[in-house]
Amino acid sequence: MDCGIDIPLQDWALPGEPFRLVAVATDAADWAGRLAPDARERAERFTDPAARARAGAAEWLKTVWLPRELGLERVEWKTGTHGKPRLARAAAEWGFNLSHAGDYVVAALAQGAAIGVDLESLTRKADVDALGERVFSAGERALVQAGGRAAFFALWSQKEALLKALGCGWANGNVVRRTRLEIADFQTEPTTRVRVWSRRVLDDAYSLAVAIF
Ligand SMILES: CC(C)(COP(=O)(O)OP(=O)(O)OC[C@H]1O[C@@H](n2cnc3c(N)ncnc32)[C@H](O)[C@@H]1OP(=O)(O)O)[C@@H](O)C(=O)NCCC(=O)NCCS
Repeated sequence: MDCGIDIPLQDWALPGEPFRLVAVATDAADWAGRLAPDARERAERFTDPAARARAGAAEWLKTVWLPRELGLERVEWKTGTHGKPRLARAAAEWGFNLSHAGDYVVAALAQGAAIGVDLESLTRKADVDALGERVFSAGERALVQAGGRAAFFALWSQKEALLKALGCGWANGNVVRRTRLEIADFQTEPTTRVRVWSRRVLDDAYSLAVAIF
């Protein structure tokens, strides 16, 4: 198995941010040849080529990049309630999360904290009004009304990163509709106390958010 030192990694963290944030383009490699059999099998469950490439890149980040980054032979996982994969044993002090969207997969890593990351392609088809009605609080809906699709995707990615940091995902309606997120590069969301960083990346084509709890 090729350990993949040559994969072009993009470092998306800004100076001073308390996390590692790396991204790979899903077409950066033929992932199957770089994965151990179990990871390859997970990636190859997908028949759609784009989904398969995203899954391959995600498996590579989890099974090749992450152990190397932590100086471990391999990392072990356990699954939290609502399915959040968490690092276990030798890596348990680290928070890790990843997100796939469009042609990229991004991974976030932080020591001593739970972390969530979300990437959204702004070209993604989304019924902004209907989705906003379902998941945004009144204050967030007002921001979307004023700021349109750009505001929608900024808030959507922030909310998803926050929900992923907490590990509850979209399942917890109490958290989902009660947050008071703002359009800001950095904020501490007042109802959950989750810290959220937010910006556009890749020539403004994607919204990115990282949340730490
Ligand atoms: C977790 C969740 C937010 C992912 O959203 P998504 O837009 O499909 O996917 P993303 O690309 O941003 O993230 C996927 C990654 O998040 C991680 N993940 C999975 N479940 C997670 C959870 N509960 N919390 C945080 N991260 C999670 C995984 O690493 C996954 O990638 P992988 O399968 O390649 O390892 C969403 O599936 C969810 O809310 N799940 C919780 C269960 C739930 O609410 N189900 C009902 C949905 S309405």
